[in-house]
Amino acid sequence: MSIPIYTYDAVIVGAGLAGSAAARELQNAGKSVAVITKLHPLRSHSGAAQGGVNAAFSKEDSVELHEFDTVKGADYLADQDAVEFMCKNAPETIRWAERMGAAFSRNPDGTIAQRPFGGQSSPRACFAKDRTGLTLLQTVYEQAHRVGVKFWDEWYAADLLYEDGKAYGVAAFNIRTMEKAIFNAKTVMFATGGYARAFKINSNAHANTGDGLSIVARHGLPLEDMEFVQFHPSGLSGNGVLISEAARGEGGILLNSEGERFMEKYAPNKLELASRDVVARAIIQEIREGRGVGPRKDAVYIDLTHLGKEKIMERLPELRDLALTFLGLDMIKEPILISATAHYSMGGIPVDIGGHVRKNNTEFVEGFYAAGECSCVSVHGANRLGANSVLEALLFGRFVGKSMVEDVDGIELRKATEEDARRMSDEIDWVLSNNGTERVPQLRDELQQSMTDNAGVFRTEATLEKQMKILANLRKRYKNIRIDDKSSVFNTELQEAIEFGHMLDYSLFIVKSALARKESRGAHYREDFPERDDKGFLKHTMGYMDEDGNIRLDYMDVVLGKHELKARSY
Ligand code: FUM
Repeated sequence: MSIPIYTYDAVIVGAGLAGSAAARELQNAGKSVAVITKLHPLRSHSGAAQGGVNAAFSKEDSVELHEFDTVKGADYLADQDAVEFMCKNAPETIRWAERMGAAFSRNPDGTIAQRPFGGQSSPRACFAKDRTGLTLLQTVYEQAHRVGVKFWDEWYAADLLYEDGKAYGVAAFNIRTMEKAIFNAKTVMFATGGYARAFKINSNAHANTGDGLSIVARHGLPLEDMEFVQFHPSGLSGNGVLISEAARGEGGILLNSEGERFMEKYAPNKLELASRDVVARAIIQEIREGRGVGPRKDAVYIDLTHLGKEKIMERLPELRDLALTFLGLDMIKEPILISATAHYSMGGIPVDIGGHVRKNNTEFVEGFYAAGECSCVSVHGANRLGANSVLEALLFGRFVGKSMVEDVDGIELRKATEEDARRMSDEIDWVLSNNGTERVPQLRDELQQSMTDNAGVFRTEATLEKQMKILANLRKRYKNIRIDDKSSVFNTELQEAIEFGHMLDYSLFIVKSALARKESRGAHYREDFPERDDKGFLKHTMGYMDEDGNIRLDYMDVVLGKHELKARSY
């Protein structure tokens, strides 16, 4: 059967905030765009962002303070030119979203309300109750529709068309019918989101399997700073579902089994509003030292009861619902159980400020762009501040869309042929016909548990070496999988097998990069190297994978600037 080839100016993979915002810019400028998304766009994980989106608006705040907090939060690994760009353009981004219809929560005087978040010098997170991401996603999706963007919902982009330093489309299949197609374009953008599903306890949607990153890596292109995985301090105990930092921003306090407000020991100034890496480590340390609470003693309390019903219902209604639904605990009446949860990926596909994807430290791939969590620009460095991710996705999504508009007419279309679907077809055929004995859900459980145990909040050479061996073994066993569903209607077993292959590949980058970084910085904490080492490691990791799954590491300079290196304390 022949495979259709659709031709566009731009094809975008992912319909979250970054992808939809870029698509709107392109379509609005008269360029033809296809957005390929394995979900309905409104189910994209951007919609799960709860607490806020940063912009320095108030009299007490400034763009320079926003930059400083971001660079300090990043433990000085962020590229300061990108940070300056983001912070400077943040207020305009919020105003744009508001003009497009996003209903932000308000102060009594009608101005946009802002709440404190971790690591901030001043309350800076604009919010829509505790449904900020969803509000923005609905707004941007609506606006993309309004200008006529074509969304290809429930299509799975399985391969990038790439040759000789040029990207020219993607190969994809329809999840509902298994129909295959090629999307041929002058420009391709990946906005495929994050990869925290590699960890057992995580706050991510099931869809966050890092597909875009592994597809890129399989073409020999680099991934940057993959060792930096953010563990959010407050996931619901047992399942990791996000309890927004807004809970601490609004005044929630953390308590251990002895009723101690333990953050007084770890961050005497900022307490619960220290940066996420600091708070997450403190929680795990309390649990390790036997001061955990809950039936398994693997949680701490967050107490919000002093806020009162009115404030909780006005500011945090979604969080209350989540704790009631999953734990049966009502935060109006009692403390709830939380612990650290894998939440965000600071690393990703390396890009410059215009979203151009790097081929290596000095060269770029023609026609290829990335934005949002799958990319590494790098504004978050070693640790992202809360409410900077929604900002990054929306702001860079729009800006990268504009940069594609500028570039696209100067790029020649490389015509795709049916042969360009070969790698995708071979992968599908292999999964359908392989007749081994291993089951993907079992392998996935083993991956997630071992990544949490060995490459989680605390890491050592021994745990990371152990994890390298586990990954090698899982890769071997993956070759011996079997699936039962051979059908072509919503074959999620097939899709999950492909996704698991991606999870294995990017996990290798996480562990290999973490093993090589013999220091502690931001979210990467090595118990055997507890200090930051600016002499040895003030540099970005660049990992490259060969066809046998071996990772070669290189390093790239950090762009420094006016915010000088200092020891970090909160
Ligand atoms: O805690 C939160 O509401 C999450 C926000 C973020 O990751 O930026």
